[in-house]
Amino acid sequence: MEHDSDTNSAGAGGAQIEQHSAESATVDHSGRTLGSYQLVRLIAEGGMGVVYEAVQLNLARRVAVKILSEELAMRPEFVQRFQREAKAAAALNHPNMVQVHDFCQTDGFCFLAMEYVEGQNLSDYVEEQGKLGIHESLDLIEQAALALKAASEKAIIHRDIKPSNLMLTHEGRVKVSDLGLAKILTETSDLTLTGVAMGSPYFIAPEQASDAADVDHRVDIYSLGLTLLYLLTGKRPFEGNTPFSIVLAQATKPLPSGAELGTALPTGLEVLVQKMAAKNPDDRYPDYDQLLTDLRRVKAGHAPVPEPAASRRNFSSARVYVPPQCLLPLPQPASCCTWFERAPRPSSAPKLLVKPLPPVHRSCRKPWAVS
Ligand SMILES: Nc1ncnc2c1ncn2[C@@H]1O[C@H](COP(=O)(O)OP(=O)(O)OP(=O)(O)O)[C@@H](O)[C@H]1O
Ligand SMILES: [Mg+2]
Repeated sequence: MEHDSDTNSAGAGGAQIEQHSAESATVDHSGRTLGSYQLVRLIAEGGMGVVYEAVQLNLARRVAVKILSEELAMRPEFVQRFQREAKAAAALNHPNMVQVHDFCQTDGFCFLAMEYVEGQNLSDYVEEQGKLGIHESLDLIEQAALALKAASEKAIIHRDIKPSNLMLTHEGRVKVSDLGLAKILTETSDLTLTGVAMGSPYFIAPEQASDAADVDHRVDIYSLGLTLLYLLTGKRPFEGNTPFSIVLAQATKPLPSGAELGTALPTGLEVLVQKMAAKNPDDRYPDYDQLLTDLRRVKAGHAPVPEPAASRRNFSSARVYVPPQCLLPLPQPASCCTWFERAPRPSSAPKLLVKPLPPVHRSCRKPWAVS
């Protein structure tokens, strides 16, 4: 099966976008003790830093530690916001969410200690298992939706829902990770990142690309819809040669059906996915209760709740206009975190205005290149 990590590369016929590690090799701090945390094993490097398995020595418990990259840790405003988001996430306690335990700054390191999830993320899981069955896919997405519902009740939007941010335990429980963290990168004004829309280009909602600061919980419903389609088909619905072209495809191309991605799906399931991932947020499920109702109905083999005739919509139509002058080529290599910047919106108000941003954000250590 064709598969690439949801953050790092594009496949499917187009040129490959690859992750290059040459720019700055990751230093492995395994064995080191930071405050009351001993780092045991480097798990993986992500967009903001590196994740370790660790032991919290004073409580003798296993935890995961996410150490912020050096460049981000040196920015006081970023660290302040990171701490604020961590605090908000730590106040949430839900069985389907990775519990945040602690925020620490010690020995020049800035990190988050959180619940260690024994298992794997859904990107790795699909890579290993291949596409998943309907019942399992719906069950996993239902669990994630329960966590996001709890977050939305506290006015927290995830903003970066994608398979690699959904952990799966050996017992089959989904745990949503990185709640709210993408927000910090969109609002930290002393960074060159200002105005940058965050989120994986493969799963980001069109309006988040258009105006990252002014979105609601429906961006997560969109990303969850694309994640569901990914679980069911093993394919990402939108591909492109660059992060920019992927985002553009999200905004302008109709969502492919399961069959178009190589896996025919029952009509009710297609309707559910199309409604979750409608281009226009007004066409999506307005809240998690309605989404959960349909997820459970379709899982039980029933059709989703019918739309009232008056409000029946064509979910596959793209409603976003991108003016041609904004379709500039992406400078290469560009960081995964800096693929575009908002251009000023004229009064004629086209919905999506994007222009590329020079590759300035080195901290994510994931430069993109097209071969
Ligand atoms: N609490 C955790 N317990 C166990 N493993 C984790 C935990 N959090 C993250 N991981 C693992 O570490 C990997 C890297 O996580 P990280 O969040 O840094 O990167 P990412 O999810 O791939 O991308 P992004 O930075 O955009 O979220 C994850 O893919 C996951 O496999
Ligand atoms: Mg993550």
